[in-house]
Amino acid sequence: MEAEASREGRLEIIATHVRRCLRCDLSDRRLHAVPGEGSATARLMMVGESPGASEDAVGRPFVGRSGGVLDRVLNLSSLRREDVFITSIVKCRSADRAGAKLRNRAPLKWEIGACRPYLTRQVEIIRPRIILCLGGSAARGVIDPGFRLTEQRGKFFPGPFSSELMATFHPAYAGRWKGSVAQGRNLEELLLQDIKMARDRLV
Ligand code: URA
Repeated sequence: MEAEASREGRLEIIATHVRRCLRCDLSDRRLHAVPGEGSATARLMMVGESPGASEDAVGRPFVGRSGGVLDRVLNLSSLRREDVFITSIVKCRSADRAGAKLRNRAPLKWEIGACRPYLTRQVEIIRPRIILCLGGSAARGVIDPGFRLTEQRGKFFPGPFSSELMATFHPAYAGRWKGSVAQGRNLEELLLQDIKMARDRLV
């Protein structure tokens, strides 16, 4: 119990560092950094690309439209948000100014590099059994820079601390292309299939 409390404490210290982080320029565009949330002893860790506008507004991961898709597939997999740990490779919204607005873009290599120590520490503390990358950008940041989602999705690779790494579609992409069919199934069904596969590997 004490060990678990200290894991939570150590995660909270990381979160505090993330919220104050000035390692890259994304810090001057954020409203809130999004360190991640969930169980400090999660066996399944989910890693997205970077927070969007909705997440930036409240400082929590996957609360916008992509969060709706993620919640749906978690429910259908009988997984509870509080039992997994959800974060992203970059903890601040990656966006450029476009007039008075911000336009989302993929995080740059050096932004991912600047943010990497936070994810590394989170993995060291939580020691998840499976790290599931949500989308190609997360997979290239975590598994391999040459990762090809279409070919390597749903496969397991060796990860740190005896974990296994796997990648699937980003919920926002799966939601946007819900009607698109690959292997005879729509992308949300494939996302669900992959999450269930990761879940079944936990036992
Ligand atoms: N995409 C992410 O990677 N993280 C979020 O919190 C939302 C969308």
